[in-house]
Amino acid sequence: SNELDAPPRKPRPPYIPGVISDPDYVRIFDTTLRDGEQSPGATLTSSEKLSIAKQLAKLGVDVIEAGFPVASPDDFYGVKQIADTVGNDVFPDGYVPVICGLSRANEKDIKRAWDAVKGARLPRIHTFIATSPIHMESKLKKTPDEVVTIAVKAVRYAKSLGCDDIEFSPEDAGRSDPEFLYRILEEVIKAGATTLNIPDTTGWNMPWEFGSLIAALRANVPGSSNVIFSTHCQNDLGLSTANSLAGAMNGARQLECTINGIGERAGNASLEEIVMSIALKGETHFKGQNSLGSGKIYTAINPVHISPTSKMVVEYSGMVCQPHKAIVGANAFKHESGIHQDGMIKNKATYEIMTPESIGLMRGDKESGAGIVLGKHSGRNAVSTRLKELGYELEGDNLNAVFDRFKVVAEKKKGGLEDEDLEALVTDSAYTLN
Ligand code: KIV
Repeated sequence: SNELDAPPRKPRPPYIPGVISDPDYVRIFDTTLRDGEQSPGATLTSSEKLSIAKQLAKLGVDVIEAGFPVASPDDFYGVKQIADTVGNDVFPDGYVPVICGLSRANEKDIKRAWDAVKGARLPRIHTFIATSPIHMESKLKKTPDEVVTIAVKAVRYAKSLGCDDIEFSPEDAGRSDPEFLYRILEEVIKAGATTLNIPDTTGWNMPWEFGSLIAALRANVPGSSNVIFSTHCQNDLGLSTANSLAGAMNGARQLECTINGIGERAGNASLEEIVMSIALKGETHFKGQNSLGSGKIYTAINPVHISPTSKMVVEYSGMVCQPHKAIVGANAFKHESGIHQDGMIKNKATYEIMTPESIGLMRGDKESGAGIVLGKHSGRNAVSTRLKELGYELEGDNLNAVFDRFKVVAEKKKGGLEDEDLEALVTDSAYTLN
């Protein structure tokens, strides 16, 4: 069966910064509250952030990037509140989410980030500096040597504050010279970085390029066996999920993502797409050329919380999902064409590779809309099946009459007919039948 009502989830391995406790385990780093909030128009208040962080912990994300503390007093307060509360929640299986704050590579940002996250049981500082030629020349106006010096100083400073979980990102790594990445990453490992996050900041890479980049970094950066490689893929070409999965296939063991894929410009890799891809195919499809462990990967996310979390993020951020958005779009589990509906009535696995229930949606629930939509493409079998469920056993001419009227109405009714519409059709048709 390809049903996923109770996904077999393995226990989460122990969390130690920079240590791969189980080579098949992939950490999920959620940045909805940082990169996601950078979606134009998606500003969240500190109390909305706290509610989302609690929900992310329920979902089971390993790391919550709670914000960019130096950006504003409210963001500092929001991150601190999350660190002091959610960052101290110990779940029954011993899981505690890591709480992370972003900072540029300077002392003021890093100190602010540390002050915000240090109340968490597992605090992390994430510092970054750009490494692509265009960013170094046009934005930073620094030479590569100067960039290496700044990066090393930043990581050393974070460590000097007492932080032992430090993530470093070479911004725009997807357009950086790999040789330069080998050099800067070697230096930040020596300075104390425990996670090396590789951002495809402009969504420029193809999945095979990004996968090869992760493989090359793992092979060529001295000291790389003592750190965890991470992906952070933007969606400018619609490839962020594919790129993240290509990274996992080549040994990345942390994937950065956001709920509903919100984020700068075209957004970020979507948590629900990554998590469900791994839940459905992690056992069989991740043996790459440079894979880690058995090549069978898993996460500790509990997918039944995906739909409620997605709805909460839509409500608070105001960022609506397009109806056909994978996993969480309003149409993701709806079936309208007659051929599909006929298949679904006979066996749901004909047109669904996961169940709506597996992500926390109820089939047939009016609000979710998951299930069969009776519209102009629907067939006789779907209409008669729904009528039976409503208590109308129609056959022969009686069914034909209702079905003919149904087609006329469905042509005009966008979004399909509701149960009340169907019942009205039956009553109405009864007058015209002998
Ligand atoms: O897109 C990006 O490069 C980032 C980094 C700060 C990780 O958001």
